[in-house]
Amino acid sequence: MKAIQYSEHGPAETMRYVDLPDPVAEAGQILVKLQAASVTPFDWKLRAGYLKSHFTLPMPSVPGRDGGGTVIAVGEGASQFKVGDRVVVMAGVFAQGGYAEMIAVDEKQAVRIPDRLSTIEAVALTNAGLSAWIALQTAEVKSGDKVLVHSGAGAVGGLLIQLCHHLGANVSTTCRSSNRDYVLGLGADSAVAYDQQDFSEVLDDQDIVFDLMGGDVHDKSYKVLKRGGRLVWLVADPIKDRGADFGVTVTRIMVTDDKSALQAIMDLAGAGVLQPQVARTMPLSEAAEAHRQMEKSAISRGRLILTM
Ligand SMILES: NC(=O)c1ccc[n+]([C@@H]2O[C@H](COP(=O)([O-])OP(=O)(O)OC[C@H]3O[C@@H](n4cnc5c(N)ncnc54)[C@H](OP(=O)(O)O)[C@@H]3O)[C@@H](O)[C@H]2O)c1
Repeated sequence: MKAIQYSEHGPAETMRYVDLPDPVAEAGQILVKLQAASVTPFDWKLRAGYLKSHFTLPMPSVPGRDGGGTVIAVGEGASQFKVGDRVVVMAGVFAQGGYAEMIAVDEKQAVRIPDRLSTIEAVALTNAGLSAWIALQTAEVKSGDKVLVHSGAGAVGGLLIQLCHHLGANVSTTCRSSNRDYVLGLGADSAVAYDQQDFSEVLDDQDIVFDLMGGDVHDKSYKVLKRGGRLVWLVADPIKDRGADFGVTVTRIMVTDDKSALQAIMDLAGAGVLQPQVARTMPLSEAAEAHRQMEKSAISRGRLILTM
């Protein structure tokens, strides 16, 4: 099969388009012919070596935390899927990733794709959907809550807007001015353009803030929360926890491969509650260029998807 692989941490050019042996479905696994995989900020930060202190990657490594395609073989004892099923899969950090034409995963790592979604759309909801769902559960969003979702035009932020809106929360978000209509279309009640205004000067009294930015945005987020509020953060860089000063709880979330969470996301999308956001697609062979674009923040309005 064709795959993307790198043998050392470094710039996007370290990723090579290579031939690898086809994987096989071991006991309890399914073999999936992939049609699409997400490109996430985690992928490029891991490749660049920024996350070395958290993850020691086996080298060479095939990147990608998810993928979607069709089951082409079922290993002994695997009973939840049959050949021909369309599935999305979660790929472990230390296992072969989704930037490849095939992947073998434990069947616990896969969920069927609802009929109303294309495989590309379902992949746009896989790693991003897991991130949004786990953050949502952590924050315990409920109807009537005032919620600020940072980075609403990003893949995870866009899904958080939709989920919080669905739950009946009053949703504010931050984005660049040209994305204001886009985030309002996802269900945000108000949008603060970060290139025109400082959100901490126009928002206050929030029950919950989802921080997908860190840095200055994190520091200023304390000020807009009410006492007893919750700050849930998802970024890789360390933060200075000032929860005690402001009387708010600060919780970091890390995405885990949680089948029930992924199933919940696919069910909501299958019911038409969640709309997948695909920023653009690029062929697998252009993974290095996809990473370059992500690194310079040229991707907006959903997920960048590699296609096979
Ligand atoms: N801890 C975890 O397990 C976990 C899981 C998932 C994601 N994350 C992290 O969460 C972050 C977002 O992930 P993602 O996949 O949604 O990324 P993404 O799709 O690349 O989105 C990034 C978005 O950030 C927005 N942005 C840039 N500067 C901003 C600012 N000053 N204020 C508000 N928004 C700004 C951009 O909005 P415009 O397009 O409007 O400029 C862009 O759409 C990343 O840092 C990622 O590493 C962590």
